[in-house]
Amino acid sequence: MRKKVIAGNWKMNMLPNEAIEFIQEFAPLVKDTQNEVILCVPYTDLFYVLLNTQDTNIKVGAQNMHWEENGAYTGEVSAKMLKSIGVKYVIIGHSERRAYFAETDETVNKKVKTALENELTPIVCVGETLEQREQGLTKDIITNQTKLALDGLDESQVEKVIIAYEPIWAIGTGKTATSEDANDSVKAIREEISKIYGQNVANRVIIQYGGSVKSSNAKELFTTSDIDGGLVGGASLKAEEFAKIVNYEL
Ligand code: PGA
Repeated sequence: MRKKVIAGNWKMNMLPNEAIEFIQEFAPLVKDTQNEVILCVPYTDLFYVLLNTQDTNIKVGAQNMHWEENGAYTGEVSAKMLKSIGVKYVIIGHSERRAYFAETDETVNKKVKTALENELTPIVCVGETLEQREQGLTKDIITNQTKLALDGLDESQVEKVIIAYEPIWAIGTGKTATSEDANDSVKAIREEISKIYGQNVANRVIIQYGGSVKSSNAKELFTTSDIDGGLVGGASLKAEEFAKIVNYEL
């Protein structure tokens, strides 16, 4: 049985003092969950969040990284730097980075490889635009993005990757894919992984849904056959609301 993995994506929000206050309220609310809880926070919060989650079940992730080990890349942060302070996860290829910061399937693939080499778990985002959806291209787009993101990995590496299916039209818009629709897309991604890496690997890969997840729709989404939790943006900024999502079964 795959576990449920629920990750918050704070995006460019939360100052260190706000992050610390959040954790003080959030940690006790999620301490009994069997689900995996991750907070993906801005670089400037990482150290504070790592320190303040030390004795909790909360894991910490970054929202981006560079694919090179080090060098003349002003403003960038490497996988090794993240690993050195205790970060365990990193979001790669979020649609906002693809749209505003020229992230491509090729850079996503390079970052996934470097993350794995440094024992970081990549949370790789894939998803279609509204236009692509209306043209009936959803499955082609998301299976192709998945294939390219994982290109060159072996089975044991693919098993360690988390995929987040995030339809772009559902991000930050309040519009959620229906649970049936989202589950169909997640299934299509799993089938693609099965075609390339075999059914056993596909059965083990965690595939999340993201896009306007909130406490009122989390249960419906997370109890489908193939969705293994969520990547949560806006609703992860409020401790009580995000805790309700993590504790969706209660
Ligand atoms: P949202 O964002 O939950 O605010 O829609 C999700 C995401 O972008 O990861």
